[in-house]
Amino acid sequence: MGSAPTPEFNLSSAKATQRWGYVKKGINPDEAIILSCEDNFHGRSIAIVSMSTDPDAKTNFGPYLKNVGPIIPGTDNQVLRYGKIEDVELAFRNAGDKIAAILIEPIQGEAGIVVPPKDYFEKVKALCKAYNVLLIADEIQTGIARTGKMLCWEHYLSRENKPDMVLLGKAISGGVLPVSAVLSSREIMSVLEPGSHGSTYGGNALASRVAIEALAVVKDEKLVERSKEYGHFFQEELKKLAAESNGIIKEVRGLGLLCAIVVDNTKTNGKSAWDLCLLMKDHGVLAKPTHEHIIRLAPPLVISKEDLLKGVDSIRQALIELPNAKPVAH
Ligand SMILES: Cc1ncc(COP(=O)(O)O)c(C=O)c1O
Repeated sequence: MGSAPTPEFNLSSAKATQRWGYVKKGINPDEAIILSCEDNFHGRSIAIVSMSTDPDAKTNFGPYLKNVGPIIPGTDNQVLRYGKIEDVELAFRNAGDKIAAILIEPIQGEAGIVVPPKDYFEKVKALCKAYNVLLIADEIQTGIARTGKMLCWEHYLSRENKPDMVLLGKAISGGVLPVSAVLSSREIMSVLEPGSHGSTYGGNALASRVAIEALAVVKDEKLVERSKEYGHFFQEELKKLAAESNGIIKEVRGLGLLCAIVVDNTKTNGKSAWDLCLLMKDHGVLAKPTHEHIIRLAPPLVISKEDLLKGVDSIRQALIELPNAKPVAH
C-alpha cells in the first residue's frame, strides 16, 4: 500500500495493526496495544505523538490515543528502553495476549543515530513470534540504501525472519513528491477491506510513477553499494578527525551514510553542537544537531569521495574555531 504523505501511512500501519490484533489475533475489543520505544520519532500525527516521549512533540496536543506507546504494560509507568531486550521481554510477559505490535526504528534517527546491539532485532523478532506480535520496522529515515543495505533491518535479520511490516517515506520518491508506503503481507493487510480505510491522495498515480523511477535510480546507480563503501570511508575519516579533536568529538557512530558525531560539551568552552553546526554552515556543510551534543550527518547517496573529504575538512575548520566562537541561542 503506498503513495501519500508519511503521517497518513503511519496511521495506516497503526490501523491495520489494531485491526489485525482483533480480527486475526483475537484481542478483546478496544484492548489492543501498540508498543514503541523511549526516544522514538515516528512522525507528528496524534496517533504517533501519543507514542512519543519527547515533550516538544507532545506537549499540549492531548488527549492522546490510549494503549499506544513505550509504557511497559503492568508496570508503574516503566518506559521501554531502546535496545534493551529485557524490557521487551517484560512487556510481552505482562501483556503478550493484548499486544498487537511493536514499532521500532532500526536505528533511532532523531534520537541521535542510536544503533541498537547487533542481536537486538533478532531477539525482538523471536519474542514477536513466540507471542504472536507484529514487528513493525520504521524505515522512513533508514530505508532505501541510506545505511548500506536497501533496508536497514537487513543488517540484523534474515529474509525468513523479516519484520512483519515496514514503513517507508522520504527517499522512496527521491524527495521529489510526498510518497510513503506500508509494506506487509497480503494476510496482514487484507484486514483493511474496501471502504474501511483510504484517502483522496492514496495511490496517487504521478507520485507512484516518481517512486518507481526513484527506486530504479537507486538500483541503476548502485546506491546501496555506494552507501556501504562511501559510508565506511566517511566514518573512517571522521574517526581520524575525532582522534585529532582534543576529545571534542567523543564518538563517531552510524551505518553507511547515516552517521553522527557526538560532541563532548565539557571540552567546548561552553559551546554547543548548535554552535558547531553554525560554524560548519560557514564552511559549506549543512547539518542539524539532535539533542545538545549530537550532530547527524546524512550526505547525499550520490556524493563523491572528494566532496566527503571537503566536508570532513569543513568540520575540522569549524572545530578549530569553536572554542573562540560567540555562542548563539536557538
Ligand atoms: C523514523 C521516522 N519516522 C517517521 C518520520 C516522519 O516523517 P514525516 O516528517 O514525513 O511525517 C520521520 C521523520 O523524520 C522519521 O525519521
